[in-house]
Amino acid sequence: MNMSETLRKAREFEEEVRGSIDPLRRPVYHLTGIKGWINDPNGLSLYGDDVHLFYQANPYTVTHGPMHWGHATTKDFIRWTYRPTALAPDMPYDRNGCFSGTALTMPDGAHLLMYTGVDEEGDSPQTHRQTQCIATGDGTDYSKYAGNPVIDSSLLPEGASPIDFRDPKIWEENGRYYCIAVNRVADGSGAVLLFSGEDPFHWQYRGILAQSAFAWGDMWECPDLLRLDGADALVLSAAGIKEQEVLPPGYTTFAMIGSFDPEAASFATDRVQALDEGIDFYAPQTLRMPDGRHIMIGWMQNWETVSQFPDDIDFHGQMAVPREITIEEGRIMQRPVRELGLYRRNQKRYCDIEVSKDLELEGIGGRVLDLELVIRPQKEGYERFSVAVAAHGSFCTTITYDRRAGRIRVDRTNSGMGPCAIHERSFSCRERDGALRLRLLLDRYSLELFVNDGEHAATFLLYAPAEAEGIRFSADGCARMDIDQYEVER
Ligand code: FRU
Repeated sequence: MNMSETLRKAREFEEEVRGSIDPLRRPVYHLTGIKGWINDPNGLSLYGDDVHLFYQANPYTVTHGPMHWGHATTKDFIRWTYRPTALAPDMPYDRNGCFSGTALTMPDGAHLLMYTGVDEEGDSPQTHRQTQCIATGDGTDYSKYAGNPVIDSSLLPEGASPIDFRDPKIWEENGRYYCIAVNRVADGSGAVLLFSGEDPFHWQYRGILAQSAFAWGDMWECPDLLRLDGADALVLSAAGIKEQEVLPPGYTTFAMIGSFDPEAASFATDRVQALDEGIDFYAPQTLRMPDGRHIMIGWMQNWETVSQFPDDIDFHGQMAVPREITIEEGRIMQRPVRELGLYRRNQKRYCDIEVSKDLELEGIGGRVLDLELVIRPQKEGYERFSVAVAAHGSFCTTITYDRRAGRIRVDRTNSGMGPCAIHERSFSCRERDGALRLRLLLDRYSLELFVNDGEHAATFLLYAPAEAEGIRFSADGCARMDIDQYEVER
């Protein structure tokens, strides 16, 4: 492979800094870059014997910059092996960044990456462009296609923006290739455009598949299309969601559930569902595994609070724990990948204990845990049940279930996040079969909450110090609780 100076420099740099971050200062079971900044997952795909995940990376600093594609592989979604940086911004059409995209395997066995090339030399709209480009390779080394870009503004419909046009999701179906990408269309809001072609190098524009019209945020990013059992889901990450019942405000990831018709180039939406009701989950991608599972990986961050992190960490950005996605009675359900179970150690269990006031339990606590709670009302019941995690001194992050309101509220005001960050989220939720079921994944810098076996997911970054390991329970009436706690070791 003819390697550019920019790519060579990135690969040499990552060799030089590999291992330079104290493992105690990294998450235990969440993927980060070797060093520096990462954002969106890219190119999640099965190639050879491995699951490949690329990611937006700026290895040199902890800020977003000229984007490269970092690369890691896994066999179980929990333990990752770093591979050399796959793409660097080294061509005139991507000199300002190789932005997000996806991957597939070609009939000749090549691994194909489709990404957005950003060229913003000069600051007039005429010179600032985002186009869709291709690189092919063998799972380690990738060469950019000589005919790049393969989709540029000449294919765009009237009024579509050549500046906000990115994040291609490519797939093959019945011998045809499809690509969806986001665009800021004539009304200034986000839309998903559909393209198709006989091969991934030649495309025709097919139409607008979905459009926000400011009902679901302004700009959209990172589209994905999931073909689930009996329904399709168009997954979107949106900026500028207004306060409303269905989706959390600001930067949010959601699914339009309905049906996709490739022939008619249309997507009929039946309903919209938030994919994460916390603060820090964005730009996910999905992968269909040979065993039929749909796996989703998201970036554990919110653009709005991205500058809030301790200044003594040398990495910034991590992936949330991969989730298994199913659809049950029209609702998307999300559960942590079952492989996480392989890393559970030192089980501590309490059955049917009473929680009526503040309670701490011998052996329950820590910061790298997988914790399952089942909470039932007793006698006259309770109105509020809380669990505080990452607690020590003035630090704690609280999850409170308000039974009467049927709402869960998570408050991370005292989690070590800076004062400018968003600290609270709440969402509607009810007990099922007389019990509320919570699963909490805690790692050194995060909390992922799953409610009622996957009905709701909510993700939060936490920067409380390592000694904030306390876990406390409380109820303002009478509740009974089962707990299973596992340490997670990788
Ligand atoms: C989403 C996003 C994408 C873009 C990438 C740039 O987080 O803004 O739309 O391709 O990040 O790093």
